This record gives sequence, structure tokens and C-alpha cells, in this order.
Amino acid sequence: MEIRSVGVVGAGQMGNGIAHVMALAGYDVCLNDISQEALDKAVAQVTRNIDRQVSRGKVSQSDRDAAMARIRATLDLAEVAASDLVIEAATENEAVKHKIFEALVPKLQPHTILTSNTSSISITRLASRTDRPEKFMGFHFMNPVPVMQLVELIRGIATDQETYEACLAVVEKLGKTAASAEDFPAFIVNRILMPMINEAVYTLYEGVGNVTSIDMAMKLGTNHPMGPLELADFIGLDTCLAIMNVLHDGLADTKYRPCPLLTKYVEAGWLGRKTSRGFYDYRGEAPVPTR
Ligand code: CAA
Repeated sequence: MEIRSVGVVGAGQMGNGIAHVMALAGYDVCLNDISQEALDKAVAQVTRNIDRQVSRGKVSQSDRDAAMARIRATLDLAEVAASDLVIEAATENEAVKHKIFEALVPKLQPHTILTSNTSSISITRLASRTDRPEKFMGFHFMNPVPVMQLVELIRGIATDQETYEACLAVVEKLGKTAASAEDFPAFIVNRILMPMINEAVYTLYEGVGNVTSIDMAMKLGTNHPMGPLELADFIGLDTCLAIMNVLHDGLADTKYRPCPLLTKYVEAGWLGRKTSRGFYDYRGEAPVPTR
């Protein structure tokens, strides 16, 4: 089956990135959120990011204009449901995702493939609450979506081959590369990345290093583009904590216990870049370590 139109539910950091790359690849995109303010913010963000690509010569002005014209922002879930492929990219909270699927499913076309950009939650469990487990799978982008090459494709227990192949064709049309993962907590990327980030927070918590020395050590010592604490702020500390909880609950191994310091930052509302404070304070000209 050929996908021509894509619906994206959730216009946050991931959702607007997904809308951006889908529109550039030629798909008609319907971007949905629960408030007009969130939609306006998302379209402004896509515009800023795509304009940056134009100014760096990565995208032509005419491709930019065509892509922007393909994005329709809407508060109406029924418009999203008319798409060939729907990608749910709401907050990393299972109850929220179930609610979205409950509202969406009665409005979907019979042929629509339903996917989630979840970074850790069981695809099989999410699929079981819909009317189409065989047409349901995980479609996991990395942040920042326009830059990162990888998409993780995760099949639930019931996902059929046709659905997988249709999603793989979309990844290829985006010019990205797919890694296929089995449906176990946090799949591949976050199964490996989040324990590393959590361990960096333990390293801070136990006073082995401060924010600067930990990030410096990993950037210059292992050639990572960002230190683990800088990366945690970039991903969002609430998302990091949610993923650690999925690993801890789903694999029942104490090696995945979230660091109490990570929990404390989240409880403070210091969620990283999106709230201007996390392991760094972003309110001034340059980020300042908070420990
Ligand atoms: N949209 C479009 N282009 C963007 C962009 C965006 N949102 N953000 C950055 N770019 C572009 C820049 O324009 C720049 O382009 P040129 O090469 O043409 O100049 C390029 O990306 C590099 O950006 P910068 O020069 O601003 O900054 P940088 O060199 O420090 O790179 C980075 C920034 C790409 C984010 C880099 O630091 C990096 O790769 N960091 C690690 C990111 C990472 O690990 N992401 C995965 C997180 S895990 C995840 O997402 C999974 C999950 O479920 C939690």
C-alpha cells in the first residue's frame, strides 16, 4: 500500500519535527494538537527550522515553500484520521496515548496504518487497545528529527508484514535509515542510551564529578556530540525519567532504578531546555551548570 498522507497527533518537539520531514519528502501532512497555541508554536518552529536549512543551502526556497504548503494544522482529530498513516507523537505517558487512540480509532479509515512515536512503551499493549493491532507499529524518530538519520521501527506481536513494509518505504522516502527492533521495553536506542544518562546522573549525585566535568569527560573522552547531562536536558528530564520507569517496571531489574536526583529535578519542574532549566540553566546568554 502506498502512503500519500500523514497525520501527526501532538505538535511538540517530536511532532513538529515529524511534520517538517514528512512535508519535505512530499507527503500531505495534517498536524494536530489540543490547543491553537500549541499548533501556532509548532508551525513557527517548523518555519524557523526549515528556513535555517534554506539559509545553509540544504533546502531550496521552492522546496521549502511547497513543504510548508503541505502542512495543515488542525484541532480536529477527524481530519487527522483521514490520513493513510497516523503517527501519534504525544507526551510519553501511556494513559494519554490510550485516550488519543480511543478518540481516533472510530474515525479512522479502514486502510489507515496507526503508529506511535513512543520511545519506550509496549507497542503490543498500545495496539491491543485499538481495532487494528495488525496495522499498528512503533515509528520512533530521534531528536532533532530533521537532522538525525535513524528511525527505529518496532513491530508488535500482531503487526503484519505489509504494515512493516509500508512504514519502511516511508523511512526510505524520507532519506533516513530504519533499524528494526523487537517490542521489549525501550527497544534498542533507549535501552542503551537511558541507562547511560541515568548513570551520568548517579555520577553527579554521588559527587564523582560535577556537571561540567561529566559532560566534558564524555564529549572529549568518547567523542559524543553532547555530554550525557546536556543530552538529557535536550531530550527532556521528564521523558528520561518516564523511560527509566518503563525499563525498571518492564524488566524488573534494580539496575534500571531511576536516580533520585533525576526524580528531584523533574519534581522541581526543571525539565531541561523546554523549561529553561535542568542540569544547565538556559535563562542567560550561555548555559550555566546548576551543580
Ligand atoms: N532542524 C533543522 N536543522 C537542525 C536542527 C533542527 N531542529 N537542529 C540542528 N540542525 C542542523 C543545523 O542547522 C546544522 O546544520 P549544518 O550542518 O548545515 O550547519 C546541524 O544540524 C548541526 O547543528 P548545530 O551546528 O547548530 O549544532 P551541533 O553541531 O552542535 O549539532 C546536534 C547539534 C545535531 C543536535 C548534535 O549536538 C547532536 O547530534 N547531538 C546528539 C543528539 C542525539 O543524540 N539525539 C538523539 C537523542 S535520543 C532520542 O531522540 C530518542 C528518544 O526517544 C529520547
